[in-house]
Amino acid sequence: MGKSRNPNAEKWWETGVIYQIYPLTFADSDGDGIGDLQGIIKKLDYLNDGDPDSEISLGIDAIWLSPINQSPMIDNGYDVSDYYDISDTFGSLEDFDLLLSESHQRGIKIILDLVVNHTSNQHSWFIASSQSKDNPKSNWYHWQDPAPDGGVPNNWLSYFGGTGWTFNEVRQQYYYHTFNENQPDLNWGHSDVKRAIFQVIRFWLDRGVDGFRLDASSVYSKDKYYRYNPVKFGATDKNNYNNQHHLYDKNQPENHHLIREIRNTIDEYEDRVLIGETFIDNRLYDSTMFYGVNNDELHLAFTFEFPFSPWYPGYLQREIIKKELITPEGAWPTYFLDNHDIPRHLSRWIECSLCTNPLGIAQASAAILLTIRGTPFLYYGQEIGMVDNLDIPPDQIKDKAIIKSDSGELPPPRDGARTPMQWNDDVNAGFSFGKDVDPWLPVNENYTEKNVEKELKDRHSLLNFYRQLIKARKNSEALRFGRWNSLIHYPYEHLAYTRKTEAETVLVLINFSYEKDLTIDEYIAPYTWEVLVSNEREVGKIIDLPSKLYPFEVSVLRRDN
Ligand code: NOJ
Ligand code: MG
Repeated sequence: MGKSRNPNAEKWWETGVIYQIYPLTFADSDGDGIGDLQGIIKKLDYLNDGDPDSEISLGIDAIWLSPINQSPMIDNGYDVSDYYDISDTFGSLEDFDLLLSESHQRGIKIILDLVVNHTSNQHSWFIASSQSKDNPKSNWYHWQDPAPDGGVPNNWLSYFGGTGWTFNEVRQQYYYHTFNENQPDLNWGHSDVKRAIFQVIRFWLDRGVDGFRLDASSVYSKDKYYRYNPVKFGATDKNNYNNQHHLYDKNQPENHHLIREIRNTIDEYEDRVLIGETFIDNRLYDSTMFYGVNNDELHLAFTFEFPFSPWYPGYLQREIIKKELITPEGAWPTYFLDNHDIPRHLSRWIECSLCTNPLGIAQASAAILLTIRGTPFLYYGQEIGMVDNLDIPPDQIKDKAIIKSDSGELPPPRDGARTPMQWNDDVNAGFSFGKDVDPWLPVNENYTEKNVEKELKDRHSLLNFYRQLIKARKNSEALRFGRWNSLIHYPYEHLAYTRKTEAETVLVLINFSYEKDLTIDEYIAPYTWEVLVSNEREVGKIIDLPSKLYPFEVSVLRRDN
């Protein structure tokens, strides 16, 4: 263990904190009940007002915006109908330019979600492609003739459920979609398609965006013979995406060439980042391939093992160790707890510790995320302890992309984790002033308790804990790029680890339980420590190495070496 820092110079995407905004529900400026770019601009000071000692800012370094392009919103923007324009719902290109310049003035970078595995079926490219078998764009998508019996061309499935093939009457052919039938997959094997996508990439880079998060970046290329995927041994539900080995519709060798080409383009511009959703069967090892053999693919590769770990120190540590071991030399890990596709961690980790001490689990997870070696991603509202809204009436569901399985069952919609940001205890939690409109999704009822305004005022709130952690990170080179080392071999009740550079050591102690007599396995010299962040000890105080932890204590300590 104990990999050293990335040998390159310190990069903003390695040491900074990235904040994901779901534009539909972050802030609504015009009262139509739907979030918009002007709304985000109004909230920039909350994210980072440029003052390192700000009393009101969270202190993040970059925003990742979920899609803002023109879209029929079947998959809430992950179905783009015009890559060159901003959705009318969110505003205009002028609004976007303003967002960019206002963000940059405050030292905030802007990362766009680039959804180019597929388009919307309303995109002019698909409309043209589906007209006939011999139009100029006829091969821009994955069209295949029916099988001899008239059925689907092969057994490839949609991630959202059921077959991935949809029949088109005009062409008398099927087209393939990894996601919803309204999201046809582009044929990256076609040179015109590639050219068109690279034009889009350059358009936004030229406009000044600081990078991209590539949506579904591991499924761009498909097997050119459209071979059948093997079904997993013993699988009964043959229509379940996870019951196949995705040999032929995912992670093809060409996919890596494509990402390398995108990276090349990114590298032509100064200081831009390439992040990707690697999305492959949850196998961490495969995901790390997306850094590229020579670190020439993604700068940061999203993997889901860490957020999907149970809330148990041993499991969490196992995920950290795995990532430490397999992140290639010179590449950089990344971690998140929440995003728009999974239940929020405070709704996911509902084991007993949460029942007895919800604030403790929130503080502990915040501390882990912000003190392990890697770039942390926050998802809007996580910092105030937002939980899923499980009471969304069926007629208000907005996640229309997921598909009914053959048994008629719907997978759980992802809307619970996408409800409006809770700003204050005004109407609609301050998200939208529109009194007569329903907000995009119903506000969680707990908004009078959990909201930004209230938590900023409360010294012991989760929001202030996040603010302190982010500030501590900013001021500590050990936290930004120091080596990570655990001090406990088989963590049962607590985690204890260090982050270390030549000059500085940070010691992180996290008690998951009521136990008080917790020991550290590895010898650590009895130096004194300065308290950086703690829910139990006085910040700024110099203390001896603690021999006992308080129940649910979370402490981040430091000393000069
Ligand atoms: C991954 C995105 O995160 C998800 O929200 C979306 O539905 C699919 N890709 C399809 O674009
Ligand atoms: Mg609006």
